[in-house]
Amino acid sequence: MKANSFYILAFFAGSSVANTVQQYPFVHPMSAAKETTLYGKYLHLTDIHMDKHYLVGATIKSDCHREPKKHKKKKEREGLLAGYWGAPGMGCDSPSRLVYHSIDYIANEWKDKIDFVIWTGDNARHDGDAYITRTKEEIVGYNVEIAALLKNAFRLENNRTLPIVPCIVANEDLPLGNNDVHPHNELRGIKRNPQLLEFSEMWSDFIPPKQLKAFKRGGYFAVDVVPGLRVLSLNSLYFFGSNDVVNSCSDENGPGAKHIKWMKKQLKRARRDGFKVIIIGHVPPTIKTFKDSCLDDYIKVSTKYADIITGHMYGHANMDHFQVLTRDVPYDRNSSQMEIQKDTGRFISTLRKQYKNVKKVRDTQELVVVHIAPPMLPLFYPTFRINEYESNINSARFGDWLKYTQWYTNLTHWNNAKHPFTGKHLKPEFEIEYSTDETYNMTDLTANSWLDFAEKIASKEGKPLWKTYLANMFVQTNNDWYGQSIPIQQPTIGWLDWFYNHFFQ
Ligand SMILES: *[C@@H]1O[C@H](CO)[C@@H](O)[C@H](O)[C@H]1NC(C)=O
Ligand SMILES: *[C@@H]1O[C@H](CO)[C@@H](O)[C@H](O)[C@H]1NC(C)=O
Ligand SMILES: *[C@@H]1O[C@H](CO)[C@@H](O)[C@H](O)[C@H]1NC(C)=O
Ligand SMILES: *[C@@H]1O[C@H](CO)[C@@H](O)[C@H](O)[C@H]1NC(C)=O
Repeated sequence: MKANSFYILAFFAGSSVANTVQQYPFVHPMSAAKETTLYGKYLHLTDIHMDKHYLVGATIKSDCHREPKKHKKKKEREGLLAGYWGAPGMGCDSPSRLVYHSIDYIANEWKDKIDFVIWTGDNARHDGDAYITRTKEEIVGYNVEIAALLKNAFRLENNRTLPIVPCIVANEDLPLGNNDVHPHNELRGIKRNPQLLEFSEMWSDFIPPKQLKAFKRGGYFAVDVVPGLRVLSLNSLYFFGSNDVVNSCSDENGPGAKHIKWMKKQLKRARRDGFKVIIIGHVPPTIKTFKDSCLDDYIKVSTKYADIITGHMYGHANMDHFQVLTRDVPYDRNSSQMEIQKDTGRFISTLRKQYKNVKKVRDTQELVVVHIAPPMLPLFYPTFRINEYESNINSARFGDWLKYTQWYTNLTHWNNAKHPFTGKHLKPEFEIEYSTDETYNMTDLTANSWLDFAEKIASKEGKPLWKTYLANMFVQTNNDWYGQSIPIQQPTIGWLDWFYNHFFQ
């Protein structure tokens, strides 16, 4: 009862924010291209997972929703209760306080130093609490609220809003879930999908008018974020393996095949226009996540247009890493599909095998490198990423990905940081975790440079760098039980269980 009324209030608060923001007309920078100075940087935000039920002092077991019945003091001492800014490393979702503060903080620091924002989704809390099951309305509420929050935060002085490119999330967490996509609609071109119509209104400032038709049909669209650089926002739902409703990509009338066809058309158009392309989506393409035929097509089309695709940017998987995709998978498909879902150690060793394999196959096979950015959700520590690209319009490499800097905030520290006189909680600041140039010694981030890097960290001499890479994968948390070897020690909070239940299933 209490939870319900709380939720309804929260939902309306979200809607009213959206209404206010719509008063500020969105002016796409392409229409003001002449006066646009390029900074050569863009922000990547992903997996915010806001939770309005988050309660400071609640137990981790209750998903940070309910206070302990006993031993409160002891549990607090042991760090087993939800902190003021979040519960880092514990598996609870993001308190609203953290989301609002982080987005404001990032926008204040960066909005006049970047050209655009990519936002690869998952805004709603996980559905992990049997006592407060997540409703569709609640999910929509988070999406509305965060869209408004971003739009507001990244509005510039002249009322221009930085281009923000969202993407449709395709897993059990979203209203556009398996159950909501009617198979017959899909076969007829997914017309009138109510969720896509809802999103097209919510994102009316983010989707160019000319792309609305494509979006309403399939949940994908293209945006020219700066002159010469285009973002393709994919709807990975139609490639996703566990979506039984969706046919494989080999059914040419199915939504997956249509999506691939759209992708091809867009890439062809981009090449003709002399544009470079960034591909974004929520669920990254891997043998674990995509249907085989869809992955195969994805690799084929990505390879064909490798010269104009500057990066494949995704979220969802939480661990900061990159995947090297190949059509000919040498290692055991079963182990990468099933077993790694159960433990992180197996995941890491499969990844290392994948990198090791690069040396053997890179001369003979088509390889596609796909990037997964870590979440804002404090599964580890909250993060955001600043990418850099070649912005010299006269350079032949215009648009190429050059570098990124990974930022994070140590919530363990900030949860306890109080003003010495007022006793008020201090606001978290973000700091640099690592950067690809200084930490990884990479001079640019082309696919080839990533393949070199994969070879390097998989080699004997690259072991120290591999360790650095692993620490970055988990945003500098839990050093005791992950690492080079398979974690033996069970984390006290059932962290691995959480991992399994929330995002590997
Ligand atoms: C920005 O938008 C507001 C509200 O629509 C308007 O009152 C204001 O004059 C605009 N400012 C500029 C610089 O265009
Ligand atoms: C993979 O799993 C399938 C189904 O469980 C099984 O039939 C097949 O033999 C397995 N393959 C390998 C290489 O283990
Ligand atoms: C985060 O803060 C805690 C508490 O101050 C500290 O013990 C820990 O070393 C910090 N972690 C990192 C990666 O700086
Ligand atoms: C960094 O890369 C340069 C070449 O790009 C190489 O000469 C140098 O040895 C590398 N440094 C390290 C520490 O790997």
